[in-house]
Amino acid sequence: MKEKIKALKEELNNVNIQDPEGLKNFCARFIGSKSVFPPLFAELVKLSQTDKKQWGPKIQELKQQAQEILKNYNESLKNKDPRFLAPTDLSLPASTQPLGGRHPLSLVQREMEKIFLKNGFSIKNGSEIETDEHNFTALNFPTDHPARDSQDTFFLSKDKNYLLRTHTSATQVRLLKKYSPPFKYIIPGRVYRNETVTSRAHCFFHQIEGINIGEGISFAHLKYVLLRFAQAFFGSKTKIRLRPSYFPFTEPSAELDISCLLCQEKGCSICKKTGWVEVGGCGMIHPRVLAQVQNASKDKTKYTGYAFGLGIERMTMLRYQIHDLRIFSANDIRFLSQFSTVHI
Ligand code: PHE
Repeated sequence: MKEKIKALKEELNNVNIQDPEGLKNFCARFIGSKSVFPPLFAELVKLSQTDKKQWGPKIQELKQQAQEILKNYNESLKNKDPRFLAPTDLSLPASTQPLGGRHPLSLVQREMEKIFLKNGFSIKNGSEIETDEHNFTALNFPTDHPARDSQDTFFLSKDKNYLLRTHTSATQVRLLKKYSPPFKYIIPGRVYRNETVTSRAHCFFHQIEGINIGEGISFAHLKYVLLRFAQAFFGSKTKIRLRPSYFPFTEPSAELDISCLLCQEKGCSICKKTGWVEVGGCGMIHPRVLAQVQNASKDKTKYTGYAFGLGIERMTMLRYQIHDLRIFSANDIRFLSQFSTVHI
């Protein structure tokens, strides 16, 4: 018995498994019911009580050593050596990658753009960094207008010349200066205001500006295009309402309301029990603003135009019944993944 145990101990100490074949041989000799151990235990049973006590634990030790060797090989070599891995099955379906999705604001912006494209508008993009001239002065804002206060505007330079645009109307001025009428453009983009972030206000949000300049453009055209838009976006039963308002760059000016679709105008928390929801501002472009248009000097009375500015967040909140503005910029995957169907 002593000799046999010594020989096995030496054999186990020198085990060196190199390949699957080696592993197979090792297992055949040391693991399971056909290994060297069952006959050894059978022999042990026949020995005297004292011999049993002496050799029994030694055989157990050898058995454990064999198990240990197998475990180590399984963990290290087997996982790294491609010869131990199962052959690749090329007919298996590929593992699916989770798909990203568009942000709900992008989805709604795209949808709004499509409606205006169908109505003859083209898209223009402007810069988020603007000058005082384009954001305020050229839009007929008086020098002491409260919007020029740094409590409302993020200024980028000490002289307050550079700022983050507070509305897409800043880009409207650039288009007026650059193109000769007639033209119809929409300007989608991000705007910034120095406001405390709450569920109803944010320091940045998105607008779609629209301008249409040409001969004989009237308030009726403005009303028509807004109604067409509202019905295309919210459904053919949607009504619009234009409330007199004031903007320095439009005259007359109006606030655009749409009938609340969530409560069918009965009054709910979204429409604050009024049956109407405000979605933007609009009006006929002020003559002082219009005077800057390309070629306007030739015949100042020839062209008129309208402009409107719609809030993309507001549209998105109505479309998906979202009550808190902050969720749009929280980057919460639980919210965003709800919109992750593929949209083109
Ligand atoms: N620029 C205005 C705003 O941000 C909206 C507007 C655009 C009003 C165009 C009239 C004409 O509130």
